[in-house]
Amino acid sequence: MDIISVDNVKYSIKDAAIIDNVSFIARKEKFVSVIGPSGCGKSTLLRIIAGLVPATGGRVLFKGKKITEPIREISFVFQDFGLLPWLSNVENVKLGLSMLKMSNEEKTQRSMSILKNFGLEGFENSYPNVLSGGMKQRVGLARAVVSEPVALLMDEPFSSLDELTANALRAELVRMLLDKKIAVISMIMITHNIEEAIELSDDIVVLSNKPTKVKKIVHIDLERPRDKRSKQFLDAVDNISRILKL
Ligand SMILES: Nc1ncnc2c1ncn2[C@@H]1O[C@H](COP(=O)(O)OP(=O)(O)OP(=O)(O)O)[C@@H](O)[C@H]1O
Ligand SMILES: [Mg+2]
Repeated sequence: MDIISVDNVKYSIKDAAIIDNVSFIARKEKFVSVIGPSGCGKSTLLRIIAGLVPATGGRVLFKGKKITEPIREISFVFQDFGLLPWLSNVENVKLGLSMLKMSNEEKTQRSMSILKNFGLEGFENSYPNVLSGGMKQRVGLARAVVSEPVALLMDEPFSSLDELTANALRAELVRMLLDKKIAVISMIMITHNIEEAIELSDDIVVLSNKPTKVKKIVHIDLERPRDKRSKQFLDAVDNISRILKL
């Protein structure tokens, strides 16, 4: 089932074409990564998908219906976490429920319980400034999934973290998805990191330089959790690097 369809999306600023033509589909319970050169318009594309920025051509559909504004079925995870420093961690997570009709008590309970799932028990009432980067992004992820969205959009969610922390959090995300601790949803992730894309994705959309087109969509069919040292994994890394360089 198609959850999000990006259909011939174009974007230009004044007369300068940034996104020339991009189409791909995020299917039910599939993980799609979008990889491309710096400045090719990846963040802009994700904002268009989220309904935050209007495309100048084409359209984005959510279950067949055109997206024209942010909708509660789709959540967003930011590169720089996007936490509000004046709110406690649990209050930050509760922001993810602001579009839902639910008592304050229930919002608190759900937020507490998701923080626990993300390994942050004991930090509910402290503030983001006491957390490490990895913990902050766990709060960011918790806030995004607490509403049980149908789709999750992530803009380079691991790239502000050091490599060890990023590795651990990626592995944890895979584990939580496999164990169904996060309701299995469709995901679209922007990344610069080829290995990260292969570790997580079912499909990798490889973009060109500006004006941006889809060079190729590569399907990754390896069992999870994926072994980064396996021959198939390394072959996939070579394949994506080659397509990016073409
Ligand atoms: N207001 C603006 N005026 C002119 N150009 C802009 C404006 N906003 C964005 N751009 C250009 O649009 C392009 C796409 O920006 P965007 O941030 O979406 O790219 P990106 O692929 O996410 O980059 P990065 O890899 O650095 O995250 C960039 O080349 C940028 O220079
Ligand atoms: Mg960007």
